[in-house]
Amino acid sequence: MTDANGIISAMNLSERRLKHTFGVAEAAKELARAHFPGLDLKTVELAALMHDFTKEYPVEKQLELCEHYRIQLTDEEKANHKLLHAKTAAMIASDRFSLPTDACSAIYWHTTGRAAMTPFEIVIYLADYIEEFRDDAGCIKLREYYQKAMKKENNKTTALHKTLLRSFDTTLKYLISEEKTINAFTVEARNYYINQLNAIKF
Ligand SMILES: [Fe+2]
Ligand SMILES: [Fe+2]
Repeated sequence: MTDANGIISAMNLSERRLKHTFGVAEAAKELARAHFPGLDLKTVELAALMHDFTKEYPVEKQLELCEHYRIQLTDEEKANHKLLHAKTAAMIASDRFSLPTDACSAIYWHTTGRAAMTPFEIVIYLADYIEEFRDDAGCIKLREYYQKAMKKENNKTTALHKTLLRSFDTTLKYLISEEKTINAFTVEARNYYINQLNAIKF
């Protein structure tokens, strides 16, 4: 497995995205410390550094990588190329940098989320949403919501699951308002975390 410098020196990202990437690394480690102390922070950092590795690649290069790694694309992914970077970055993390499977899976799912995410998937997914440099309204609101929930809720898992639920709602509302396609995994994730939260009540 590589180290952080190996990934950073191979990265070719704009200043803005690089700042975001470092923000994700810090936020992911913070989330791991707060909720999943069993996670290896060094590996969490490497996955965070890798998560947008291919985000600025042109569409043609993304599609080439998908073919090279035999990534099956859904119709939605073919129509929405933004989703491809998560998959191609996960493959490169495994193939070129030998990141462990749980780290690659977290990179793979960081854009859409999914039901019953692993601890690793949760920290990378949520860190991407709430890292300190994200400055769009939805991210700022979610960051504040998480901080308040962590103070208000007695149970940290409840605070985390409520924040996840809100993140999916924010994404889905945005996609609907923009008349964009909705990813089925995000819908499943929303339903799953609603059920998780309801299960606590009964
Ligand atoms: Fe991303
Ligand atoms: Fe990102």
